[in-house]
Amino acid sequence: MLVLLLTVLLDAASAWYRHDPRLVRVVAPLIGDTTFDVRDYGAVGDGTTDDTTAIQAALDACASSDSGGFVEFSGGTFLSLPLYVKGDNCGLWVSSTLLQMHWTEEPLGSASTSFLNVKDVSHFAITGGGTIDGNGPLWWPNDDPRPRLVHIKDSANVALYDVAFYDSADHTLEVYADNVEISHVNISVDWTAFDGKAPNTDGVDVHGTPFYIHDSTIDVGDDNVAVHASDILVEDCVFGGEGDGVHGHGASIGSLGDGSAISNVTFRNIVFENTHVGPNIKVSAGATSGYCKDVLYENIILFDLQYWNMRLNMGYDDDAAEASPTNYRQSRQSRRRLGSSNFLLSNITYRNISAPKTTQVPGELLCSDDIPCINLHLQDITFAGVDEDDWVCADAYGDMDDVVPAACVKSGYPPGDFSFSYSYSYSFEEQEEGGETASSLGASPLLVSDLQRAETRRTQTS
Ligand SMILES: *[C@@H]1O[C@H](CO)[C@@H](O)[C@H](O)[C@H]1NC(C)=O
Ligand SMILES: *[C@@H]1O[C@H](CO)[C@@H](O)[C@H](O)[C@H]1NC(C)=O
Ligand SMILES: *[C@@H]1O[C@H](CO)[C@@H](O)[C@H](O)[C@H]1NC(C)=O
Ligand SMILES: *[C@@H]1O[C@H](CO)[C@@H](O)[C@H](O)[C@H]1NC(C)=O
Repeated sequence: MLVLLLTVLLDAASAWYRHDPRLVRVVAPLIGDTTFDVRDYGAVGDGTTDDTTAIQAALDACASSDSGGFVEFSGGTFLSLPLYVKGDNCGLWVSSTLLQMHWTEEPLGSASTSFLNVKDVSHFAITGGGTIDGNGPLWWPNDDPRPRLVHIKDSANVALYDVAFYDSADHTLEVYADNVEISHVNISVDWTAFDGKAPNTDGVDVHGTPFYIHDSTIDVGDDNVAVHASDILVEDCVFGGEGDGVHGHGASIGSLGDGSAISNVTFRNIVFENTHVGPNIKVSAGATSGYCKDVLYENIILFDLQYWNMRLNMGYDDDAAEASPTNYRQSRQSRRRLGSSNFLLSNITYRNISAPKTTQVPGELLCSDDIPCINLHLQDITFAGVDEDDWVCADAYGDMDDVVPAACVKSGYPPGDFSFSYSYSYSFEEQEEGGETASSLGASPLLVSDLQRAETRRTQTS
């Protein structure tokens, strides 16, 4: 019955995704068969004419049609101000270039306007082999409001496939949607435009679940991927690129703060080149509640990373804490006077990671002594050009196997005088946008069992 229903649904959909076995593994967005060519609505596509009105008319026609379809951009450069995608089963087929026109006044009075604004949509896709260009260099040097390139909110069943996203003015893909697949996309910026910087240009910000990113290249000026949700798989990607430039802040989880409840995140088969960091878990300094657990970083090669090969930092956004381990300890003292950190990091695995050359710090694992990180598993890690002493750790507990040079993770669990006697009370406010919060899970039995497991093991070994 279920199979029959699925077959019917798939047959009803446009066939575009079925031709390519590389595509959909998480979601098959159903896009209607009608084509809405923006030229039919008056777009010129000469790269200088403002085509906003025509393109918006094509998008609106799709939204109000019965079955949806692809709004098509072909054979030209289509210049436009911010656009709004509404209505289910519509997609953008960009085989040429869709270029954001520079603007400084908020066109619709909202400081959060993005170039492509997609909201309340079920079944959405962008594909076609072309480029969506944010014209970022016209924004980067200035203080004007900076639009994200694509902002998808309150939506589901999204595929972004075979398309390039270039020069976003701010975050590139900000995706608050469930059932998302991003594949065969290139996200990049022009490193020659603004002194090798492209500030705040995150590649993909993940705020929905499940979410699958694969076979993509992400070469940007901030987080290559920033995970803010659970059940996420990122694989077979290249982060960073050749030459001078920032090239990204890595495979990030966070930054996480009060109430973040993240589990089951995997990054695997990723090659990094010239990024600041590789694996990068960031928890805001003084976060008082929440957890991040069951994370796997696997099969990773790190070429010429600029700062840390890998990093886990519970003092994020605290300048002093970030500067050095000594400062970190000092800032932790002051933080404790403000209230203890109850954020739990547990079961984080780093497996089969190599760096042929280490530029600065092999790894930094800075946890909180209010709740140390537990169950950190480091396996088959080889970082060339550094010594054991170059690792930086605080309150990081777990196990190591074949780590060269050995990291400063303490084996086992925190010593007997350490108390896990926390009463977790989940009374967090629901976060406004997306993401899983602890309150949406209720009191988390898994979290409690993590602590119990630690407690049991400690009793057994002592
Ligand atoms: C992405 O980059 C690769 C390698 O340069 C290229 O072969 C591919 O066509 C690009 N894809 C798009 C959609 O631009
Ligand atoms: C973990 O996330 C992956 C990727 O979204 C998903 O396929 C898998 O079912 C999840 N595992 C669990 C135990 O939920
Ligand atoms: C630890 O996380 C991995 C995923 O990385 C998961 O498969 C495993 O079950 C977790 N272990 C425990 C004890 O929960
Ligand atoms: C380790 O990672 C490398 C690089 O991704 C990969 O080629 C190799 O097959 C992995 N080894 C194992 C045992 O999975």
